[in-house]
Amino acid sequence: MITLEKVFSLRVLLHLLAIGPVLWLSYQMWLWLSGAPHVLTANPIEYITDFTGRGTVRMLLITLCVTPLAKLGKWRILKYRRLLGLYAFLYGMLHFLNYMVLDYFFDWELIIEDVLERKAITFGMIAFACLIPLAATSFKFMMKKMGKNWQKLHRLIYIITILAVTHNYMMVKADVLVPTIHAMILAILLSYRVYVNWLKYKTSNKKRVA
Ligand code: HEM
Repeated sequence: MITLEKVFSLRVLLHLLAIGPVLWLSYQMWLWLSGAPHVLTANPIEYITDFTGRGTVRMLLITLCVTPLAKLGKWRILKYRRLLGLYAFLYGMLHFLNYMVLDYFFDWELIIEDVLERKAITFGMIAFACLIPLAATSFKFMMKKMGKNWQKLHRLIYIITILAVTHNYMMVKADVLVPTIHAMILAILLSYRVYVNWLKYKTSNKKRVA
């Protein structure tokens, strides 16, 4: 039965917050393509690339925030990690599709040349390519089927986010404030993980000695 509590659950709120910007962007694109006034500036393709690119980085960072927040705040939010990760993939796919379809119009020769020659694009491409197996295996039955390998594979999220933030920093044209903030958040999140693993290693060593 659909109860009021379910309708206003955190899961629904997260879906709305994640899909809202995509719907807004789609509406603006529809206005642009039908010749009506829109907010995508004089260079809509660049606007869409930046919008979806930032969306991808932010969704990746938010996904990485879940574990520390769950542990420090004792909140039961770990179950939302997969949902947020899938939205990171959705934004990444829109970012890549925009590049492939609107920017390069399926010119594979140029696309391959760009990916191989521009380091920033190579980093972005590797990050996106690595997101694909994570998205493909993010379903419960795959989790069960893969067992411990699932966790090992999903550790790729750290490499992906490092590559994504580096790509972000290199692609931005003038003001590096936003990518710097992204890099600082990532540094805090990675430091937290290193610290937790170091604590675990220390206590397991003590037990072995005792
Ligand atoms: C996980 C993967 C990726 C993430 C997180 C990401 C993120 C970003 C971000 C944040 C920006 C800068 C936006 C700004 O100016 O503020 C950007 C720009 C850009 N990205 Fe990506 N990106 C990814 C993958 C890719 C891929 C696979 C391609 C193409 C093969 C690509 C092509 C571009 C291009 C061409 C720009 C510059 C657009 C412009 O001229 O302003 N990105 N990306």
